[in-house]
Amino acid sequence: MGNAADSNEITRQYFDSILLETRYLDADLPSTDLTLYQEHFATPIMTAALSHLHGICEGAMTEIAKGAHLAGAVHWVGMGEDDELEDILATGARTVKIIKPHADDSVIFHKIEHAIAHHAFAVGMDIDHCFNGNGGYDNVYGLPMHSKSTKEIAAYAKAASVPFIIKGVLSAQDAMKCIEAGARGIVVSHHHGIMNYAVPPLMILPDIVKAVDGQIPIFVDCGIASGMDVFKALALGATAVCVGRELMEPLKEGNVGVTRRINAMNLELMSCMARTGAHSLSDIDPSVIHYRNFL
Ligand SMILES: Cc1cc2nc3c(=O)[nH]c(=O)nc-3n(C[C@H](O)[C@H](O)[C@H](O)COP(=O)(O)O)c2cc1C
Repeated sequence: MGNAADSNEITRQYFDSILLETRYLDADLPSTDLTLYQEHFATPIMTAALSHLHGICEGAMTEIAKGAHLAGAVHWVGMGEDDELEDILATGARTVKIIKPHADDSVIFHKIEHAIAHHAFAVGMDIDHCFNGNGGYDNVYGLPMHSKSTKEIAAYAKAASVPFIIKGVLSAQDAMKCIEAGARGIVVSHHHGIMNYAVPPLMILPDIVKAVDGQIPIFVDCGIASGMDVFKALALGATAVCVGRELMEPLKEGNVGVTRRINAMNLELMSCMARTGAHSLSDIDPSVIHYRNFL
């Protein structure tokens, strides 16, 4: 029996409600090259901001970074100590460091400075990790969290000489506030179901795309498990996507497993692009999308 309130289940159902038409005439094998913040990548499939992967394989946090790097993908990382981040960045992976919304601002400013000093590709914050489910502020591994104001985000973005990205946007209102604060990207996400009955990222994405109007890249995560899912997110306006839990099983094999899974998803994305007449990521046409409302 499923759980009707579970945002992960609702999100899966929404992915599966999206159907695609095909466009074979004048179609050809596509390129999935992505240019992001003036750098070039082989795929729009990125690894999600993960943390605490101990036990999955030896050195899992660096193995996933290597796996992303070998696939020509952007790597993201979540909370963790400074030395762990240094090891990750030493792999050469182009890494986005997501910092928690710590109650203590000095921790945030330190982590921004530290990540940039060690050549992070970008930095950011998962703003959705501020509250717990019991009417209070969250406490993550003993560290107190707090909600953030647009003004505070603006101060973090100003302190960062690399793009500052806000993760955990699930409304056009927050998206507009992120732009106002100087964020250079947003991740449309419900943080794998941090709240029940959260709107699926792909359901709210068109509203956010309309509000953002091309001003900054829009990334999407939550429940992406195939190249078809990636295609659907891109068709609805995402610049690129992050994949987390789908990489946990492949990560048992270390970086090889991660690279293999990203490459396999990318090939599936390419097939889908080919069959819908998209020669490049920018050709992906939202008008191929239909919704399964015949049941
Ligand atoms: C083990 C694990 C650790 C995570 N740690 C973080 C984190 O530190 N910071 C963060 O912003 N998100 C974190 N996330 C959330 C992911 O970045 C992502 O938003 C979420 O898992 C949804 O993507 P998925 O469905 O592809 O896993 C974590 C997820 C998992 C599974």
